[in-house]
Amino acid sequence: MNLMDKINETAQFLKDKGITVPAFGLILGSGLGELAGEIENAVSIDYADIPNWGRSTVVGHAGKLVYGDLAGRKVLALQGRFHFYEGNPMEVVTFPVRVMRALGCEGVIVTNAAGGVEYGPGTLMAISDHINLTGQNPLIGANLDEFGPRFPDMSDAYTKVYREKAHAVAEKLGVDLKEGVYLGVTGPTYETPAEIRAFQTLGASAVGMSTVPEVIVAAHSGLKVLGISAITNFAAGFQSELNHGEVVEVTERIKEDFKGLVKAILAEL
Ligand code: HPA
Repeated sequence: MNLMDKINETAQFLKDKGITVPAFGLILGSGLGELAGEIENAVSIDYADIPNWGRSTVVGHAGKLVYGDLAGRKVLALQGRFHFYEGNPMEVVTFPVRVMRALGCEGVIVTNAAGGVEYGPGTLMAISDHINLTGQNPLIGANLDEFGPRFPDMSDAYTKVYREKAHAVAEKLGVDLKEGVYLGVTGPTYETPAEIRAFQTLGASAVGMSTVPEVIVAAHSGLKVLGISAITNFAAGFQSELNHGEVVEVTERIKEDFKGLVKAILAEL
C-alpha cells in the first residue's frame, strides 16, 4: 500500500471510532503524556490497535491516542511519539502528523524534553525555529502533492501568531516561558561536550531527539505549529553526567506548569 492509501485507511479507521472533528493535534513528549488524562469525553485507542501506526518503546511514553475535549477544544493527543532512534523509518515517525492533517486539524502543539544549551533544567521554552542536524528529511521521496509542495517554505514553520499567543498566556499565568532554537539530532546517544560547544556556536538554545521530523511534515502540509520544550538537564559538558532518569524526574517537577500552560494556550488558539 502506498503512503497516501495508508494515511486514508488510518484516518477512516479513526473516524469510524468517532474521531471526527479534531481541531488540534497534541504530541506529548517524554513524561508530558499526563495531559491526555485530562481530556474529557475521551476516545482512547492503544497504538497497537491502529492500522499503519508505529509502536512506542521508550520509558515515559504510554503509547495511546486520546481524542476529546480539552480547554473547550477538540484535540487529538498522542501519548508517546515515534523516534527515529527506535529504528522507525521517517515515514512512521511522521505518520501521525499526516493523519492529523487528513482528519482536518488546523494546528499541532508539539512538545518534547530537551537538553539546555542556553537554558537550565526546569525551563519551558517556546520553539522559535529549528536546526535539522538529523542528517535526514522526512519529505525525501515522492512528494505527496495533496499535502503540499515539493520544496516547502520553512520560514514560519513554528507559527509566529501561535508563539505570540503562548507568550501572552504565559505572562497571564505567571509562567516564565522562554524562547529559542531547537537543534534536532537523531540520538540515542546524548551529545558529546564538543558537539554541544559546536551547537552553541550554531545558535542552538536546546537540543533534542524528536520534533524536527514532525514539524517538517506539519509545515509541508500547512499545519500551524506551536513547539514547546521542557528543558530537563544542562546539555553535555555543562553538567557532570546525563541520564534518562533525570529527564523523567525534572519533567515530573515542571509538568504542572506545563499542563496549565498548554491548556490555557489551547483555549486561546
Ligand atoms: N540531549 C538530547 N536530547 C535530550 C536531552 C539532551 O541533553 N535531554 C532530554 N532530551
